[in-house]
Amino acid sequence: MKILSSEITPYSIYINRRKFIKGSVATAVSLGISNKLEGSHKDNGLKYKQFLDDGDKLNTFEEITTYNNFYEFGMGKTDPSKHSDNFNPHPWSIKLEGLINNPQTIDLEKILSLVTIEDRIYRLRCVEAWSMVIPWQGFPLSKLIDIADPLSSAKFIQFETVFRPEEMPGQRRRILPWPYVEGLRMDEALHPLTILSTGLYGHELLNQNGAPIRLVVPWKYGFKSIKSISVIRFVEKQPGATWSITAPSEYGFYSNVNNLVNHPRWSQNTERRIGEFKRRKTLMFNGYEEEVAHLYKDMDLRKFY
Ligand code: MTE
Repeated sequence: MKILSSEITPYSIYINRRKFIKGSVATAVSLGISNKLEGSHKDNGLKYKQFLDDGDKLNTFEEITTYNNFYEFGMGKTDPSKHSDNFNPHPWSIKLEGLINNPQTIDLEKILSLVTIEDRIYRLRCVEAWSMVIPWQGFPLSKLIDIADPLSSAKFIQFETVFRPEEMPGQRRRILPWPYVEGLRMDEALHPLTILSTGLYGHELLNQNGAPIRLVVPWKYGFKSIKSISVIRFVEKQPGATWSITAPSEYGFYSNVNNLVNHPRWSQNTERRIGEFKRRKTLMFNGYEEEVAHLYKDMDLRKFY
């Protein structure tokens, strides 16, 4: 799939800025996407599908960057693209803290010098029952966990979005308890499908998608994929997560995509793929069952929703 020049032009400011994704990688990625559509990929011995269903196709750059949830910039779907111009994600650093051997504040550039950026085409399934297919660039979260070098007592990881009410208008209102936080169990965090993304469609992330670095956990509802991460905390006990703190009966800590467990206000059985008319059936674990079901084999997923 080609990126139309009309889609690229409005983002030229970003592209011309200091680049996190080197030009050659970005070009290779945009050219390489069509070859990857039906392919599968070997990663750490795990065979994961780059593309899951015959009927799936990539959402457009336009769709992915104008239909967003990012409450720090407002609650409407177009608020993040319209109201995030004052957010400046450069330079950026992430504080690694808690139960680790190497606590530090690490520059994003330093992280990027230590990892290899890969492309991953994943479905994103929002708990609101819409979905997209997004060609991300990023690297396995496990690489950053290696840098932090957790103690054996670290069983969970909590992530925190930056708190900058002066740049994020939504944070000036108490829509949610700020900063936005999320969490994963250590084995989920180490799973090869779990990535930190720094770009999509070969461009560095736009502010509305969580610049300059966000989590992507494709088998969980989209709200687990926390944006603009500034702190990663290694902890012993299951940490707080914004939506499960806000409405515990509606959003659990695990929040695996599960068509058998409905949200109290809507069914999770089908979804609306952005750009499509007919609803699709929602797949267990968003179609990644083969890769991740073992993580939950002894758990009652109705209880641990
Ligand atoms: N991260 C933060 N910090 N704030 C948010 O409001 N929204 C979540 C998630 N990450 C959100 C967030 C939700 S509900 C979804 S569906 C995805 O981001 C949407 O990601 P996208 O806009 O890049 O598609």
